[in-house]
Amino acid sequence: MSAQRLLLCCLLFKGTLALSGNFWHITDLHWDPSYKLGDDPFKVCASSGYKPAAMAGIFGDHACDSPWNLINSSVYAMKKILPDPDFIVWTGDDTPHVPDQNLGTEAVLSIIRNLTHIINEVFPRTKVYSALGNHDYHPKSQLPGGPSFMYNETAQMWQHWLEPESGITFMKGGYYTEKLLNRTGFRMLVLNTNLYYDRNMLTHNDEDPAGQFSWADQVLTEAARNKEKVYIIGHVPPGMFEKKRSKSWYRKHFNKRYVELIQKHHSVIVGQFFGHHHTDTFRMFYNSEGSPISTMFLSPGVTPWETTLPGVKNGANNPGIRIFEYDTQTLLVKDVVTYYLNLTHANTARDRWEKEYRLTESFRVPDASPASMDRLLEGISADRCHLQKYYEFNSVSYDLSECDAACRVDHVCAVREVDYERYEHCLVTEAAGFVGGGLLPVLSVAASILFAFNQHF
Ligand SMILES: *[C@@H]1O[C@H](CO)[C@@H](O)[C@H](O)[C@H]1NC(C)=O
Ligand SMILES: *[C@@H]1O[C@H](CO)[C@@H](O)[C@H](O)[C@H]1NC(C)=O
Ligand SMILES: *[C@@H]1O[C@H](CO)[C@@H](O)[C@H](O)[C@H]1NC(C)=O
Ligand SMILES: *[C@@H]1O[C@H](CO)[C@@H](O)[C@H](O)[C@H]1NC(C)=O
Ligand SMILES: *[C@@H]1O[C@H](CO)[C@@H](O)[C@H](O)[C@H]1NC(C)=O
Ligand SMILES: [Zn+2]
Ligand SMILES: [Zn+2]
Repeated sequence: MSAQRLLLCCLLFKGTLALSGNFWHITDLHWDPSYKLGDDPFKVCASSGYKPAAMAGIFGDHACDSPWNLINSSVYAMKKILPDPDFIVWTGDDTPHVPDQNLGTEAVLSIIRNLTHIINEVFPRTKVYSALGNHDYHPKSQLPGGPSFMYNETAQMWQHWLEPESGITFMKGGYYTEKLLNRTGFRMLVLNTNLYYDRNMLTHNDEDPAGQFSWADQVLTEAARNKEKVYIIGHVPPGMFEKKRSKSWYRKHFNKRYVELIQKHHSVIVGQFFGHHHTDTFRMFYNSEGSPISTMFLSPGVTPWETTLPGVKNGANNPGIRIFEYDTQTLLVKDVVTYYLNLTHANTARDRWEKEYRLTESFRVPDASPASMDRLLEGISADRCHLQKYYEFNSVSYDLSECDAACRVDHVCAVREVDYERYEHCLVTEAAGFVGGGLLPVLSVAASILFAFNQHF
């Protein structure tokens, strides 16, 4: 390369760098303070329930939530990989998967306090946007649609990350909004979507718990008027769990309302970042013409814990943390880089956090815009290699088995259709499309009716 070309190349590179920002997204740390190595695999951790922690090592086991060593390792890995991000997004679930009677209000608060402390200690000058998870409450998932002692306590713990006005709405309903990094034209919306979770028994008779939907509608309407660009973060996502057919989280009317909120305000919403699944996947939103208008990124969890949801096969993951690269002028998500810890390797050698993949490299898309993510989805749907790659990343390179035809339908329909009815329809058409004509489409219709029926149990 000539010196002149090299110079031009550097200038161009610098030009793009100047517009490029990045932030960390971490989620579902699920610290289990009871984790302790010993001779009896049934006694390693409370979060394993009645399962043995057969491969337990100092950084954890797939039967257990995170030991402190894993929490510490993940936060220090962030510091080593990208020590000075523009900000950090943290989308909740701090406590272990144990029965409520083994926790309590004080235990939950003290776990949130320890995690807040280590993030603050390692990133003392970094702004953190923090959303509550369904496990950040006692009793778990019972977050109320009104003022509560725990909202107050958490707001106080996060005071140094919150603007004073944010503390006020947080104490009322666990949500808040701020200008992103205090910059004019950019906004962060932090939602408490645990209010929409079907396991929440306090909010199900409410049209709009804590008035969050009408508040968000108002914030987004005003954002459009002020020509702002908005990121939305939260914990429990709308739509379906891609690892279990027809498994959703939101109550039906809440799911509908969430989709409508995004469709109405998509022109100001540039990204949605959620957790709760512990897996690496995404969700597409379309307008009535079928054009992609928004993407929700679901980032993998730090906990390696294997889900106990009945019917999920091989539902564990390696610990993952993630960097989003974005255009600081438009907030457009340019790329997504996921780092992970091979837990088996960590326990036998050392805790080596590696780059798992870069979105644009692995899937050959120009960026992570809704149009690119839609193209990626079509790739996953149509191409075996794309599907398999996506599938291995879905469990953070834990489950490397083949994603078969039924698996393909589960993932493709969950990514494509956040709306429950459209998802059920997708199951039928995708299954039919894949096997071609003949009797099989009829069988798949019958099967999907059976699945729908099964849902009621
Ligand atoms: C946390 O991780 C850092 C970096 O690896 C290490 O120096 C430190 O000793 C760890 N602390 C604990 C309490 O494990
Ligand atoms: C958690 O916080 C308490 C209170 O500050 C402290 O005593 C304890 O050492 C912390 N635990 C860990 C593992 O950092
Ligand atoms: C929460 O804090 C606010 C302001 O300090 C106070 O007015 C309110 O009574 C508290 N609510 C609860 C439920 O503790
Ligand atoms: C945000 O910006 C406003 C005005 O631009 C300033 O008054 C305020 O102190 C800033 N807040 C923070 C937390 O920096
Ligand atoms: C994780 O580490 C184990 C043990 O070193 C190795 O066998 C396995 O292939 C690794 N997995 C991946 C995805 O690299
Ligand atoms: Zn979780
Ligand atoms: Zn959760």
